[in-house]
Amino acid sequence: MEAELSLPGHAVGEGGDGAATQQQPAPLSQSQPMRLGGAADDEDDFEDHKVPVSVEVCLRENSVCSHRQVAEALARYLEGRTLWYRNGPLDLCDSEDPLLLQQVAAAAICDADPRLHRLHSPLLFWQYTPRIYVYQLSDEGPADDDEGEEGVPSYRELLLPALDLAGQWEALQFDSAIQQRLLSYATSALLFADRGVDGNLVSWNRVVLLYGPPGTGKTSLCKALAHKLSIRLGGRYRQGCLVEVNAHSLFSKFFSESGKLVSRLFAKITELVEEPDVLVFVLIDEVESLTSARKAAVAGSEPSDAIRAVNALLTQLDALRRFPNVMVLTTSNITQAIDVAFVDRADIKAYIGPPTLAARYEMLRASIQELSRAGVIAVDVALLAAGCRAAACVDDTRRLLLPYHEAAAAAAASLAAQGAAGVFGCSNGSSNGSSFGGSHARGAAASGAAGGGGDGGGSSSHEQLLTNGGAALAAAVAGASFLPLPPPGLAPEQAAAAVLSLQLLQAAAGCEGLSGRTLRKLPFLAHAGSPALVQQHSAAAAGPTASGPGDGGSRGVDGGGSAVGPGGGGGGGCSARAFLEALREAAEREQSDRSQLLSG
Ligand SMILES: Nc1ncnc2c1ncn2[C@@H]1O[C@H](COP(=O)(O)OP(=O)(O)O)[C@@H](O)[C@H]1O
Ligand SMILES: [Mg+2]
Repeated sequence: MEAELSLPGHAVGEGGDGAATQQQPAPLSQSQPMRLGGAADDEDDFEDHKVPVSVEVCLRENSVCSHRQVAEALARYLEGRTLWYRNGPLDLCDSEDPLLLQQVAAAAICDADPRLHRLHSPLLFWQYTPRIYVYQLSDEGPADDDEGEEGVPSYRELLLPALDLAGQWEALQFDSAIQQRLLSYATSALLFADRGVDGNLVSWNRVVLLYGPPGTGKTSLCKALAHKLSIRLGGRYRQGCLVEVNAHSLFSKFFSESGKLVSRLFAKITELVEEPDVLVFVLIDEVESLTSARKAAVAGSEPSDAIRAVNALLTQLDALRRFPNVMVLTTSNITQAIDVAFVDRADIKAYIGPPTLAARYEMLRASIQELSRAGVIAVDVALLAAGCRAAACVDDTRRLLLPYHEAAAAAAASLAAQGAAGVFGCSNGSSNGSSFGGSHARGAAASGAAGGGGDGGGSSSHEQLLTNGGAALAAAVAGASFLPLPPPGLAPEQAAAAVLSLQLLQAAAGCEGLSGRTLRKLPFLAHAGSPALVQQHSAAAAGPTASGPGDGGSRGVDGGGSAVGPGGGGGGGCSARAFLEALREAAEREQSDRSQLLSG
């Protein structure tokens, strides 16, 4: 399926968001990994202190070349290059290796560890070790079990890594490092099994349970984990396979059938896991239906087949433990009443709650970038207003919205500088007009807070705002009756980035308590719910706009922020500021509809 190549001593490099750049070894700096014990020839010690950087390389659909060769070619390409330690595509355009140019569809840096302080900083070539994973996507869609009841399949099968799941892991936004935790857990569990560790002495089940309110990404996370592991463990397994069990259909009304369905399901799973080079994931979604089936059986409202079927399923799951190449992933929307038999079996029981401010911000940021790519939003309007040429801006404007950590620092600084009473325990602060970009944002935040912290309490309040998971910042931003303004003295692009990012942060703060599923819909609802935006698009669709794409000098700005600018595909895009305002209103509407529904 894929090859993994971990090449100690090799270096990976990337400049900016993708372009790899050749760099000379830099002078030693504080961030240089330390050698332990002073043994100059102790390569292992030195390697231990390098940051492992995962690079995933997806081969083209029709590629038949050796995964190992591609991994080696990529390692050569990366040698001596500097890398920004953050997730994102790796642009191989400047490679001269035909193998890379012709066989690779995409390469990306993945799963940069947010716990490492080096996140978002450049890593010089000797500061890290690339771990290269080469894989090919299967474009075969899911295959349903066609013997389910009343045409409802009781399971479906998907070959991994799957085209359908590509990018899902990266699109999920969780604050709590749950993704790293699951990756490490799964890797250890499969390794223990693979090495034949005696289960009587060291016990583990390879069962994961994710529980929490609906729409928070549990099912998506399980599927994405299966996809991700099939890429990561590709050097060990030829093929991955996800078997999605429809628990509702297994324990539906015809309980007498359930036993048969369970047997057929496990016959299929066993057939798969008996091939040692196939990695099998069994996903049992909404496992609470087991609980209700059992309860119904105990209450006597269902035939006793029900309890037999549930027990059969649990016994069969236990029997799977003897196979090293299988992992069971389960989810439940009900937090109180999960079947205790299941809870006991799960090694990891992780609560997945509504997204935090950071996760909400990043989800909305991704959606705005997508709408910008599609030409629905002309994010470059802000830069057009600042006098930039449209053509030069298109790429930058996608990146105009700052990552959360920078936006949060900017907001904290801005609130302090504007003297948001009650936020920092101070009534006023002078703005220190430093940059909001990159690490400057942290500097700006710190100096802004210090500026406003004449009472001595400002700085620590400011830090609290940034370190307590975003709740205080969310409250401060949502509670600010004004839109936080960037400090004066920024370059036009930086000011535009800060203004838009703070506006987005305010919209994200207003989405407290909404599920990830609702957040994914919100940009659509914002557009549909804003007559001005809809009208503007219908006008653009009806005839040529005053400003068309590609003229480079078009100005669609009307001073009030609603504008028609160059978009993709020839239609007019609305201004980002107008869209973000509509987004904030949509969040307010959603919150009030939700509270009405819950109270009524
Ligand atoms: N934290 C999140 N990050 C990104 N997307 C999310 C998140 N939570 C939910 N979603 C999106 O919401 C939709 C519903 O998610 P799903 O996995 O079905 O939720 P659950 O199984 O918890 O009910 C999916 O499209 C998913 O991508
Ligand atoms: Mg679900």
